[in-house]
Amino acid sequence: MHSNEALKRQTHLEFYQQHGISPVSYDIKNLSDHFERRASLYDQLALPTLAFSKSRVLEVAAGTGHNSLYIAAQHPASLVLLEPNSVGINEIKSTYSQFGADFIEPILITKKLEDYFPESPYEIVICENWLGTSKHEQLLLNKLKSFVGPRGILVITTVSPVGFLPNLIRRFLSSLVAPLNLSFEERSTILKNAFQSHLDTLKAMTRNVEDWVHDNMINPAYFDLCLSTPTALDLFGVEFEILGSSPSISEDWRWFKSLYGEDKSSNIHYLKEYWKKNHNFLDSRLEPSSGDAEVNIGLENKAIEFLEAVRAHEDGLIQGKNVEKLRSKVASVLQEFIGLLPESVLLAKVALEDALNLIQNNNKINVADIADSENFAHLFGRETSYISVQKI
Ligand SMILES: C[S@@+](CC[C@H](N)C(=O)[O-])C[C@H]1O[C@@H](n2cnc3c(N)ncnc32)[C@H](O)[C@@H]1O
Repeated sequence: MHSNEALKRQTHLEFYQQHGISPVSYDIKNLSDHFERRASLYDQLALPTLAFSKSRVLEVAAGTGHNSLYIAAQHPASLVLLEPNSVGINEIKSTYSQFGADFIEPILITKKLEDYFPESPYEIVICENWLGTSKHEQLLLNKLKSFVGPRGILVITTVSPVGFLPNLIRRFLSSLVAPLNLSFEERSTILKNAFQSHLDTLKAMTRNVEDWVHDNMINPAYFDLCLSTPTALDLFGVEFEILGSSPSISEDWRWFKSLYGEDKSSNIHYLKEYWKKNHNFLDSRLEPSSGDAEVNIGLENKAIEFLEAVRAHEDGLIQGKNVEKLRSKVASVLQEFIGLLPESVLLAKVALEDALNLIQNNNKINVADIADSENFAHLFGRETSYISVQKI
């Protein structure tokens, strides 16, 4: 699958624990806004408020616990939070001691998913922003499936390779201006300066810049995050049917009376819609449109090739190799990606040409060149999606 599996990188957990961080805080100063955002997500996932109120719910990799507060406020039958990172565990405790009065008290299990074996299945299982493409994590995803009871619902995060590409470019640029041999603190400072102006263009962002830099630009496990929706549905197999997604990209004009037996084929229908629309993941500013599935499959494959080129370049740096050829490969794959873009994403094309210029000048660029990049600074993909699947 991946060309560089030989190089063993730190996992999320090892990285977080080494630096004593849990870079996943949300802006919860205004709790009712936070709750509205969570409700908007779950509504798109076909999980309205009432779905939680009588259910047994498990959240795996609960982070700070901020997201779980919304579920606790719906008074589920039970809420179990699984989180092994000591910083996260303390944050969950402090979150609930600060806000807990109106919510049910969750059961906090301070174990890794690898070591957790529930006695009975759950009605709703949630695991956001964690499991990706590494072999180990795919086995864990399989394990997670076994925690879901009949007609139960599993929610996970997926990442669009096309939507990931703008931040992969930033990751590549990071390795140029903040060499990997600098300390964690030095790299953080440089990269905050490089990307603050980019992140300032994102009006609805709820994470702070430091957390974003740690989790996206420095986290060694970053490349494995890119578990696409088609790959996830493939892993779920025929046992699970897609219920909803955020963004909700699938229109279904079929008559419900025809949706039974083999004709229902929810996953096949969803994927047809996905391939018509996945170019929309490239640019979060873009008004969505329908496109050509064949072109879009080509785009997705080229975006995956770009991911592997950026990963190979970073691996080369870690291994102290001469990376000239690996650098040219990054530039040439990006050029090919740009060549495949449909007319409908013109604004993104201009931004990517700007980025390609930076990449081609790789020996000369500095932090200010990145911070001031006029068009590229505005390009962020619709990187993360959420999907809910139901056990059938
Ligand atoms: C990117 S954070 C996401 C946190 C939270 N779900 C969110 O969306 O804000 C990844 C989380 O996975 C947790 N994690 C990493 N390895 C784990 C493991 N083996 N078992 C359970 N959780 C793990 C980390 O401690 C961290 O809280």
